Amino acid sequence: MSTNLIVGVTGKRGHGKSEWVRRHLISDNRLLIADALGEHRDWTTSLDCDLPEQLSIIAAQGKNAFRLACPLPIDDEEKLIAIDYLCRAAYLAARFAEAPVTLVIEECDHRAASTANWTNPGLNLLIQYGRHGPVNVVWTARYMGAVSRRLTSETDIHILFAVHEPRWLEAIADRLGEQAAEEASKLKRYHYLKIIPAQSLIIGVNADGKETWRQTLGFVETAQPSSEERLEDETGESEETQPNGKEGLEDETSESEETES
Ligand SMILES: Nc1ncnc2c1ncn2[C@@H]1O[C@H](COP(=O)(O)OP(=O)(O)OP(=O)(O)O)[C@@H](O)[C@H]1O
Ligand SMILES: [Mg+2]
Repeated sequence: MSTNLIVGVTGKRGHGKSEWVRRHLISDNRLLIADALGEHRDWTTSLDCDLPEQLSIIAAQGKNAFRLACPLPIDDEEKLIAIDYLCRAAYLAARFAEAPVTLVIEECDHRAASTANWTNPGLNLLIQYGRHGPVNVVWTARYMGAVSRRLTSETDIHILFAVHEPRWLEAIADRLGEQAAEEASKLKRYHYLKIIPAQSLIIGVNADGKETWRQTLGFVETAQPSSEERLEDETGESEETQPNGKEGLEDETSESEETES
């Protein structure tokens, strides 16, 4: 993977998001996965230990190649803290070794990672400063509308599997345009769209990973941050992030909780 990319992988349960991650990152040689559901144990080294030990193992990698999956705690507040620290660990591992790291965050629509208007502080740091690591971020979620707008607007490549729920199609239309939502509603299982907003490009891909069509995307709203957000980005401060995990969880309403699982 080239460096400092943000890739978002979204779509219905069981349609191939984690499989896409495995197929595309299996040869990445500095890979860290926040493995919420333990989906990547079979092709990584799973760090089945507590967070401090996970962090010290990551810090000890230096310039080595590694492919580590960190199972996340069940408890929401502990999960928020784990994601925060793992993002920072990925950043430090890249920066100190001067060697890029790819961080995968599975289930990014869980409220410990992101909600429609809140981003985990560690993830926010990677969005703002990840290019200095450099760190690539790959995030997955079932519902794009339940992921922070800041994250979706900063995402360079969207991998979009089928979505049928009208509410979530509306969220896709709102963030990536009507054409993306319409095409997403027609996708078969394991087929996906690759959308590159900066190039106004939408590509259809089949279950074997073969490109089947490509078009210029008619309308893409990349949701430019407001002037306040731009200012926050420059100063490194953000009202969007909460001072501690507990407040983050209590103050935000997670849209994903209201949806089917
Ligand atoms: N392109 C594909 N061709 C054949 N089988 C696939 C393909 N993609 C995924 N699968 C299989 O489908 C099943 C579900 O895929 P996967 O776990 O990637 O779904 P998911 O979108 O991550 O689901 P969830 O939202 O529950 O995490 C897995 O058994 C996987 O091996
Ligand atoms: Mg999955």
